[in-house]
Amino acid sequence: MDLSIVDEDLKAVESSFRGYLSSRVPLIAKVGKHILTSGGKRIRPAILLLSSRLNGYQGQRAIRMASIVEFIHTATLLHDDVVDNADIRRGNPAANTLWGSEASVLVGDFLFSKSFYLMVDDGDLRVLSILAEATTQLAEGEILELVKTADFGITRHEYMDLITSKTAVLISAASRIGAALGNATEEREQALKDYGLYVGIAFQLVDDCLDYTATNESLGKTIGTDLREGKVTLPLILALQQATEEEKKRIQDIVLSEKITQEDFRAVLGFIDGYGGVEMTLHLAREHVNKAKRCLSLFPNSPEREALERLADYIVQRDR
Ligand code: FPP
Ligand code: MG
Repeated sequence: MDLSIVDEDLKAVESSFRGYLSSRVPLIAKVGKHILTSGGKRIRPAILLLSSRLNGYQGQRAIRMASIVEFIHTATLLHDDVVDNADIRRGNPAANTLWGSEASVLVGDFLFSKSFYLMVDDGDLRVLSILAEATTQLAEGEILELVKTADFGITRHEYMDLITSKTAVLISAASRIGAALGNATEEREQALKDYGLYVGIAFQLVDDCLDYTATNESLGKTIGTDLREGKVTLPLILALQQATEEEKKRIQDIVLSEKITQEDFRAVLGFIDGYGGVEMTLHLAREHVNKAKRCLSLFPNSPEREALERLADYIVQRDR
């Protein structure tokens, strides 16, 4: 994905991370550095930077805000890998497998708290309000997901609501903050907020497909984690909607079993494929990418707008 127009800014974001990690407790920098420098895609910082530049903002605060949003994202990943019992993240051992769950949760708390400290220091109540709202909804989404674990009655609507909260809302906050920094009109801020929401939904739809179809190597995570954790995601929901009672029972037994073997996983994947669950989910993701791009039609053509369009396309083309 070509993001060369914000390359310099993204480099500045990377170096500000290091400064923000400094603490008298060495474990914080160790765990923080491990996850922050492990090759994240930097989607949120890129969206925030591009969105601010699209609205004519040229100052340094966009870099600070982009780092803060990535800090929050990193905090949620540290917590999420504990919740999901994940062992690999971005091709490396997850922090919880190296330093334990306690350290992961607590360093996540540090990053999360530090983010709000830095925001207060910046002093823009609009940004503070956008991120306070987004992180509250994000936590709500993650808890909703927990409540819906192994729930075969989960509807497509509930699933969409869940992924909007747990993933799309933070991405949308990034594009909205960019608009706020550029003092965009209400109409433009709304368009960018929607752009972020659509991109975020598409992102999670693809993430949930890749959990079935990617390889561990390309994804940098262990595939099949959703199924093993009892997460009923859209590819499975769509297949279950078309299945016979007998098939539903067979799949339910697998999901509820003590240990899901490779053979079980392949059986579920075959079932999903038989009903086109992954294909339909990817189709929906492409529709959301197109909606995201349409939100940008309000802005005159510019290198920033084109980069945001490319970024939306990348979401459905990626393999990790
Ligand atoms: C990844 O989903 C997880 C999220 C997008 C949100 C995680 C949120 C929390 C743990 C709660 C809030 C925490 C704070 C600090 C406010 P996934 O498991 O589908 O993706 P993955 O495959 O990359 O793990
Ligand atoms: Mg996870």
